[in-house]
Amino acid sequence: MANPLPSFLLAFAAFAPPLHANEGFSKYTLCAACHGQSGEGTNLGPPLAGSEWVNGPAENLIRIQLRGLQGPIKVKGVDYHFPGGMPALGHQSDEDIAAVLTFVRSSFGNDAPAVTTAEVAAVRKDAGNGPLTAEDLITPPTAAPAKSESSGKYDDLEARSGPPAWLWFFLLAAAAGGGLFALSRRS
Ligand code: HEC
Repeated sequence: MANPLPSFLLAFAAFAPPLHANEGFSKYTLCAACHGQSGEGTNLGPPLAGSEWVNGPAENLIRIQLRGLQGPIKVKGVDYHFPGGMPALGHQSDEDIAAVLTFVRSSFGNDAPAVTTAEVAAVRKDAGNGPLTAEDLITPPTAAPAKSESSGKYDDLEARSGPPAWLWFFLLAAAAGGGLFALSRRS
């Protein structure tokens, strides 16, 4: 197989500038350490991709940044308990928090509105009050927007997959029969 590296680099060069122009993307490096490059989750943090928390009320997300989060939490129907929890990341500016949350809410298949600097500023006074638990947060609607995996993209594949199998069998049998007939006539 051809070495895929050159085309990978080419693709990266093509896509990297717009990605890096996105401030939230570069800020996400910090989150990626625990939540994974694609928000898939690691053994240090639950998934952000398709998370009902991420796609739920923005206030929750801002407060998690400012105060950190501890104790058990359910994400996408799975019960997690991370002994270390999530540390408060309140050293980030209001702009940084707005940018990274906006990035997370519009990436990895998530589809939630942007978070503004003003929204973060309004919650900033909550910082320094010690870590939160899931009970301190507004319970999000459990059904996360299903934009990620089941987009319905392949739903009509069945309908488009051509004639039914019996028709192929019939045509094949007819061709074979016709061939045999022709052969028998030649002798
Ligand atoms: C040191 C690891 C760590 C880092 C860094 C980190 N998190 Fe977390 N995060 C966690 C853990 C652990 C939890 C679950 C907390 C608990 O146990 O209740 C969590 C929970 C969350 C949740 C709610 C649960 C979910 O999966 O939707 C959100 C949203 C979140 N983090 C966003 C972020 C964002 C955005 C960043 C970067 C700015 C970030 N985290 C950085 C470890 C981390």
